[in-house]
Amino acid sequence: MAINLFKNANIYTPVDNGSPASGKSQSNINHFQNGAIVVENGIITEIGDIDDLIHNRGKNSKIDSHGKLKDAGKTIDCQGHCLIPGFVDPHTHICFAKLRESEFEMRLQGVPYLEILNSGGGILSSVEAVAKASEEELYVNTIKHALSAMKFGTTTLEIKSGYGLDTQNELKMLRTIDLVHKTTPLDIVATFLGAHAIPTAYKQNPDLFIKLLIDEMLPAVKAQGVATYCDVFCEKGVFSIEQGRKVLEAAIELGFKIKIHADEVNDLGGAALAAELCASSADHLLAASDENIEKMSTAGVVATLLPVTAYSLRKPYARARFMIEKNVPVALATDCNPGTSYCESMPFVIGLAVLNMNMTPAQALTAATLNAAYAIGMADRVGSLDVGKQADFLLMEGETPAMLAYHAGISPIASVFKRGEQVFIK
Ligand code: NIG
Ligand code: FE
Repeated sequence: MAINLFKNANIYTPVDNGSPASGKSQSNINHFQNGAIVVENGIITEIGDIDDLIHNRGKNSKIDSHGKLKDAGKTIDCQGHCLIPGFVDPHTHICFAKLRESEFEMRLQGVPYLEILNSGGGILSSVEAVAKASEEELYVNTIKHALSAMKFGTTTLEIKSGYGLDTQNELKMLRTIDLVHKTTPLDIVATFLGAHAIPTAYKQNPDLFIKLLIDEMLPAVKAQGVATYCDVFCEKGVFSIEQGRKVLEAAIELGFKIKIHADEVNDLGGAALAAELCASSADHLLAASDENIEKMSTAGVVATLLPVTAYSLRKPYARARFMIEKNVPVALATDCNPGTSYCESMPFVIGLAVLNMNMTPAQALTAATLNAAYAIGMADRVGSLDVGKQADFLLMEGETPAMLAYHAGISPIASVFKRGEQVFIK
C-alpha cells in the first residue's frame, strides 16, 4: 500500500455537512495552520493540525510522535504553502473542434450573441466544425483544453456535448469526452446537451427536433452509457420552457440527472423549471427573477454561476450575494467554450466572483470546490479535504485563498495533486 504524508501545509477546506453549503455555511472554511494529510492509495485517511493528529489519534495515527510516518512511505514537505482542494469545474463545453475568433470581433462591434446564433453562426458554426472533424482531431483539441484546465488547478470537471445535434455526432462527442477521462488523471462527468440549439434543417419545425431528441438521441445516449446528466439551453429563440420540460422529463424517465442553461440572456423562467423538476443545478441565471431564485432555494437546486460569460458578453453579473442570502447554494464554473467564455482558468473565475460579484474569498472557495462537486454529483469523492475523499489538492502561492483574487492575471497554483500524485508543477 502506498502511503504519503504531506506536512507543513497551511490547509483551507470547506466543510462538507452532507449537502451543498448554503447561506452562512457557504462561508465555513476549516483552517489548519500547521496541517498534515496522510494519503493511502490516493485517499485521505488523516487530516488536521499535525499536533492534534499525533496526540488525539495516538496509536490510530500513521504519524509518530516526531511527526514522521510510522511505516515506509513518502513525506512531502509543503513548506508552509497554502493547500486547498482541487477545483471542480461543473460546467464546460471544452469538447469542440474550432475557435470562433471572428465572432468575438463581431460581438466587440456590438452584434448580439443571440443574433449571431439566429443567423446560423455561434453554436451552429461549432456544430459544423464538429461534424467535419475526425474523432481523433476532436480528441486532440479536447484533451488540450482539459490539461490546460488542470494546470490552473482543476482536478474534476464536467464536459457537455451539444455541438453534434444529431445522434451520430453527439455520440462522437460523448465518446471523445469518455476517452479524455480515461487518458488523463482528471475525473470527468459527461452531460448530454443535444438541446443546445435548433439545427438549421429543423428551423421551421423545432418540435420535430424535440421528437428526435426524445425518441432517438436520448435512448441512444442512454444505451451507450456515455452521459450522466442531460442539459437544455432554454432561451428566447432557442428552446422554450415547454420544450425544455419535455426533453428533461424524458431524460428523467430514462434515469438521467438534469441541469438547465437557465435565464442566461432573458428571464424565461428556467430557474423555476429547475426548481419544479428538482434539477441538480440551474446554470447562468444572469436574468433570473427574485421569485424564481426563491423557488430554487426551496427545491435545493445549486446555482452554478459563470462570471466569465457575463464578463465576455459584457452583461450584468448574476446576483450571487442575493442567492446566498436566500439560501441558494452557489457554485462557480468557467463555462469554457469557443463562444461566450473562452477561459479554462478557475482562478480567473474566482477573481471575478470576488471582485465583481462581491462574493467573499471563503464563499468563492466553497463555490469552486464543494458546491461545484455537489452540482455534478461528485461530492462523495471530491470537493473538500475530508477523510475518505480523494487526495485532490493544490499548493498555491500566498498565505490565504484570497490570493486567488488578489494576484490578478496570473495563476497562483504552484502544483496540483490528483489522488495524492503530483500531476503539475509550475
Ligand atoms: O453556456 N448558452 C449556451 N451555451 C454556451 C455557449 C456555447 C457557445 O456559444 O458555443 C454557454 O454560454
Ligand atoms: Fe454553457
